[in-house]
Amino acid sequence: MGIKGIQEFLGEDWSKVEALLRGSLHSSVELIDKTNAHLSSNGGKMLRPTLSLLVSKACGTLNDDCIRVAAASELLHNATLLHDDVLDDSSVRRGAPTVLSTLGAKSSVLIGDFWLARAMDLVLRCENHSREILTCFSDTVQDLVEGEMLQMTKAGNGDTTEDDYLRIIYLKTASLFKSVCTGAAIASESGSDSAAAVKKYGRLLGMAFQIKDDILDYEGEALGKPTGTDLKEGKITLPLLGAFKKMDGGQEGEIRRKVSAFPQQPEDCRVIADMVKTLDGAGYARIRLEEYVSQAKEALSPLPDSPAKGCLLELADYCGYRKI
Ligand code: FPP
Ligand code: MG
Repeated sequence: MGIKGIQEFLGEDWSKVEALLRGSLHSSVELIDKTNAHLSSNGGKMLRPTLSLLVSKACGTLNDDCIRVAAASELLHNATLLHDDVLDDSSVRRGAPTVLSTLGAKSSVLIGDFWLARAMDLVLRCENHSREILTCFSDTVQDLVEGEMLQMTKAGNGDTTEDDYLRIIYLKTASLFKSVCTGAAIASESGSDSAAAVKKYGRLLGMAFQIKDDILDYEGEALGKPTGTDLKEGKITLPLLGAFKKMDGGQEGEIRRKVSAFPQQPEDCRVIADMVKTLDGAGYARIRLEEYVSQAKEALSPLPDSPAKGCLLELADYCGYRKI
């Protein structure tokens, strides 16, 4: 069905999320208003609200609070990207210039703060369980910050192990997927067994999503953002860790030193990327990815069969095997 097909399956509920997002981004300051409208017109895959609505449908009753939680998840995600582009000095996202490159770092941070505040506002407007859902999201914001700090420290040291890598991607990506699923389950008044199942599914799905993102950074084309940026930013991700397994200690140490001395010469990055290709580091990452995808699907087994559960199973394959 694909992600667009899933959004069509969600029908009227999907349209309500889109309308709520549009209505949440108005500002009396013209520059914020115009920038938000521009960002919304190039909104990306909208994976998190799609996930959120599916979880609510699969676990309980899809009510107005579920629409608010779904929209809040997208606002929070976009807030993190506006901040992330400053940290990573990224000039292109979703095939378009970033706010960082058009308006500068200060505006990117401030507009990110605006989206974050609107996300929190939507959760606070939930008629039931707003405090519980807000706690999930604020725990995740803390995880995101910790993940980014850890990633930054490790990038400077060049000593990232596979355990460090897994911790970083849990904090910076999987934690939000987990919170989206938990928040959606709470809003839908789901039973505790279903809520526990989707919480686990969300964490595993988020791990798979980030590993695939890191593979695409070595292999992807037409992503709407440049490839090869992880190496440039000093990030040691799973494809490179996979390649290390096939090197001797001396060779690995030399590459770790080079990667930590970022920003490297483009030529050095090309040499390392070619080495990862020759040693099939992405192949190693793909094996780990498949484990996460199948564990994510397995986590859904306590849920009763339904079309929405079928879509959640499909979403696991999408996250793991997407081309962009
Ligand atoms: C993208 O990762 C970045 C994230 C998933 C998280 C960013 C989080 C923060 C900057 C924390 C602060 C946020 C707020 C709102 C307080 P990536 O750089 O690997 O992926 P990319 O290639 O898409 O940039
Ligand atoms: Mg980034």
